[in-house]
Amino acid sequence: MQNFAYIIGDEETKVAAIVDPAWEVQKLLDICRDLELKVTLVINTHTHYDHVDGNSLVVQKTGAKVVNHESSRMRKDIAVKDGDTIEIGALKAKVIHTPGHCPEHICILVDGKLLTGDLLFVGECGRTDLPGSSPGDMYESLFHKILPLQDSIEVYPGHDYGSRPSSTIGYERKNNYVLKNRTREEFVRFMAQP
Ligand SMILES: [Fe+2]
Repeated sequence: MQNFAYIIGDEETKVAAIVDPAWEVQKLLDICRDLELKVTLVINTHTHYDHVDGNSLVVQKTGAKVVNHESSRMRKDIAVKDGDTIEIGALKAKVIHTPGHCPEHICILVDGKLLTGDLLFVGECGRTDLPGSSPGDMYESLFHKILPLQDSIEVYPGHDYGSRPSSTIGYERKNNYVLKNRTREEFVRFMAQP
């Protein structure tokens, strides 16, 4: 499914969070071990199985606490909401609530890098035809929460669906056909097209 999981590690305190562990959990843990990082948090951008399937194994092997949006039905040792800060050692990761693909979806902004889960891919956006999806919410999240960010912010999506594995807000603003100027109504109609 071309999923991306991410490790956010603080080089100072050697503490790390794993974002969206699904497959190849051991590989993620091996990388953390090689970098001498202690995994203390699991963060899920949303609760679809291809983003959470590895949660329990990470928890079992590391004792990490699970972070999810407060509306998520998943286990959440730490419930977060829009604007909250998740501390990963000395790093501060900002939570941006971005419903649309699903109601509990969050993006994580840390150190000029935005982890966009299934909200925004390189050149694409997430599906809005699934149970719990909302094209109207997707519009608000993309156009009012993500696009106002600086062009230089790097974009790290939840799947490798684009022409490159990561990009920037500026690149997406310029090249992503989903982000062309549309009213909310136009966007909802656009998302309903096959
Ligand atoms: Fe998803």
